[in-house]
This record gives sequence, C-alpha cells and structure tokens, in this order.
Amino acid sequence: MSTPKPDLEALILGVTRSPAIDGGCVDEVWELVLDAVLAGLKVQRASGWMLGEGRGRLCCVALRDQRAGAVMHESATLAREANPAYFAAIDTERALLAHDAMNDPRTAEFRDSYLKPRSISALLDVPVRFHGEMVGIICCEHVGGVREWRSEEGAFVAALADVVGRALTAESAVRAEAALRENNAMLERRIAERTRELQDALTHLMDTRDQLIAREKVAVIGDISPKVAHDINTPLGNAVTAASTLQERLDELRGAFASGKLTRSSFADFTSHADEALSLLVSNLNRAKRLVHDFMRTAVDQISEARDRFALSETLDALLASLRPVTKHVPVTPVLDCPATLVVDGYAGVIAQIVTNLVVNSCRHGFGSQADPTITITVTCDGETVRLVYADNGCGIPPQLHQRVFEPFFTTQRAAGGTGLGLSIVHNLVHGRLGGTIALRSSPGEGVHFTIEFPRVLPVGP
Ligand SMILES: Nc1ncnc2c1ncn2[C@@H]1O[C@H](COP(=O)(O)OP(=O)(O)OP(=O)(O)O)[C@@H](O)[C@H]1O
Ligand SMILES: [Mg+2]
Repeated sequence: MSTPKPDLEALILGVTRSPAIDGGCVDEVWELVLDAVLAGLKVQRASGWMLGEGRGRLCCVALRDQRAGAVMHESATLAREANPAYFAAIDTERALLAHDAMNDPRTAEFRDSYLKPRSISALLDVPVRFHGEMVGIICCEHVGGVREWRSEEGAFVAALADVVGRALTAESAVRAEAALRENNAMLERRIAERTRELQDALTHLMDTRDQLIAREKVAVIGDISPKVAHDINTPLGNAVTAASTLQERLDELRGAFASGKLTRSSFADFTSHADEALSLLVSNLNRAKRLVHDFMRTAVDQISEARDRFALSETLDALLASLRPVTKHVPVTPVLDCPATLVVDGYAGVIAQIVTNLVVNSCRHGFGSQADPTITITVTCDGETVRLVYADNGCGIPPQLHQRVFEPFFTTQRAAGGTGLGLSIVHNLVHGRLGGTIALRSSPGEGVHFTIEFPRVLPVGP
C-alpha cells in the first residue's frame, strides 16, 4: 500500500500564513520552510544557504534533518571558485533538479567533499532571490539512491524560496526603518546638543554685553573726567596765583612796618590789593567747588542704581553744568526748558546717563561744520507721562540709518574710537529702566530730534 502523497499546496499555504514572513524574522521563516520541505518531499535533510563574502561562497545558515528532528547547525560552505558549474546553474535556473547528484555534472563538483560524507544521492536546489538576484538556496537532500524529482516538487520548493525572498525583503525594510529611527534619534540628540551650545553662546553673549555696557557707563565718565580735571585746574591755578601775590604784598607790608616806612597810602594800596586777591580767591575756589560738586553728582548719579524722587530740572541743570568741559570745546551752551516743579519718581542716574550720551554724541558727531551750534532740551509733563525732547542743529542722521544707530556696535566713528554702544544703551535704558519709548526724527542738515517718553512715576517692578 503506497503512502498518500503530501498535500504540497496545503503546506505552502500553511507557511505563507505565518506573520514571521512580513515581520522580517528570517531565521524563523527558514525553520518553517525547511520543515515544509521535509514534510512535502520526505527527504532526509533540508538546508538553507546564503551567499557571503562578496557573493563568492554559500554558507549553510539553517539545517533540518529527518533523523535529528530538530534544527541543526552545520558550518558547511561552498565556494564559487571550486564549484563553477553548480554556481552557474543556480545563478540562472529556477530550480536545479539533480536526480543522480553523484554523477550530475553540476553537483558532482562537491561529490567527495559534501555528498559522499552525508550519503546524499539526489539533490533538489532552488535559488532564493532578493531584488532579482540569487542570494541563497534551499537545498533538499535525498539519501538512498537516485530520485526522479517531479516538476511539482520543483515548483513547491520554488514557492518556498519565494517566501524566504519575501522575508528577506521585509527584514531589510525593518532594518531600514530601525536605521531611520536611529537616525532621527541621533538628529534629535544633535539638535538638542546644538540648542544647548547656542543657549550657552547666547548666555555668554549676554554676559559680554552686560560687561560692555557696564564698561561703557564708566567710559563715558572716564571720557569726561580729564576735561573736568582740566577745568578745575584753571580756577585752582587762579586761586594759587592770587594767594601767592597776596603773600608777597603781605611780606612787603611787614617789612615797611618793621622799618618804620609804612605810609598811609601804601597801607591803603595793600588793603585794596588784598581785597581784590581775596575776592579772586573766593570766586575761583567757589567755581572749583561747584565743578567738583556737579561732576560728583553726575558721576554718582550715573553709577548709582538707587530709585528716588527728584526734581528733574535740578538733575538736568547739574548734569549740563558738569558737561561744560565737553560742550565748551564746540562751543555750545545747551538750553534747558524744564518745569522747576516737575518731580519724577524713578532713576535720576539713568536719565543723566541718557542725556550725557546724547550731548556727547552731538558734540562728537553733529557740529563739524555748524557755525552756530545749538542743543535744546525741552521737558513737558501731562501729569503721568514725561516727554523729553532733545534736539541739536548739527549734521543730522540720514533716514536709512535711523534703525541702525540704535544697534549695538553701529558707529560711523570707529577709527576715532567710537564703539557704537552709546545709542543702543540709550535705547535699552529708555525701554528697560525707564519703561518708556524713544523716537528719532532727523534728516541730513537738520540736526537730530529725539523724543523720549516715560512714566513720571515708574511702576513698581516685578
Ligand atoms: N547728534 C548726532 N548727530 C549726527 N550723528 C549722530 C548723532 N548721534 C549719533 N549719531 C550717529 O549715530 C552713530 C551711533 O551713535 P552711538 O552713540 O551709538 O555710537 P558712537 O557715538 O559712534 O560710539 P560710542 O557712543 O560708543 O562712543 C554715530 O556713530 C553717528 O554716526
Ligand atoms: Mg556715542
């Protein structure tokens, strides 16, 4: 009684239903496929081979043996160089049916090395293809004499080889997806790293900017101080001269008195001279004292961070007086129009710093060819908002530079030592510390016209 023929269609159907195929689990698919081969062809062994080493060698990657009944591993390989007829056949044919493997010219090449030791007498080998190329084979090994393979058996194994090909395609898609995910993760890590670096650079930039602003604050005062010192020297020099002539006259008077030659008229002469010298002394010392006072007040104001209630006109008066060493070189006498009763609650030092920068700018940039320079500061207040309009009649600023002059480091005077921080600091101080706004109106030849508005009483900060 002959055994019933295995239902090859059913076996193929069973394998193709496995989710391992489209999941790209190639090892698992090999096991399913080789099991199906054993069941369908009743062969002794079924093995799976894949090309390696630059397509030069087939390596056994899975093996099923009827006797062992389990997955086995065999580190067998088959080199293309030593088996050219066999490789030529599997490279091109759909299936290699070697009924008598020992004598078939395509398989006899490995008779001694492979077939004999395993008593293999017939072989049915089917290439596995991936993207159209042979990348491996399913090898069905029959033991026990010549075997006439039937064509449907060849078709059966070919269908299983297609299943392995499908699994390989899925595996490469899964790998590509994983690589993409890894790539994305790496990109995200890089972006996070760059963001951190940018953040650090930004913090560093802010620190540097703060340092520059602090330095510039002191620099404006440093710029003015030698001129102030020079100005103080003049009245002090006058006072020294007056005191020393008075000393000489006093010595003469003492001599005349001692020798009994002191006359009424020489005494009267001395007293009138002494009066003159003393009044010179007092006026010059007072002038020096006022200069020092104004400068100190402005300098202290500008460095001080303290909030205060102050009469704006007094602050601006003292400021303009302390800027005289700068303005007299032009020469220009700033005209201040500010209500004496206007009391501001905020930062006097900040306002002083802003006006100092504007005055220094007018003197430095504005009046090159102006025969009759003027600076006017007009302050008004509607009760809540203070409006300070600063104007000069200098060369003005062309409209295309109106935005840029407020940018840090923009200067047209770099060669002359300008850092270009003045107006950017003014802008920041007005918008930041004063909680106000600043607008520039100017065109060439018409001078500058800054309108600064800020609350009379600065709101309490957060
Ligand atoms: N009153 C003005 N008249 C004409 N141009 C001016 C006037 N004020 C400013 N500018 C122009 O605006 C530019 C920027 O002024 P800013 O005060 O920011 O820098 P700076 O005076 O050049 O240098 P720094 O103030 O840092 O020493 C000046 O270089 C100048 O070209
Ligand atoms: Mg400036």
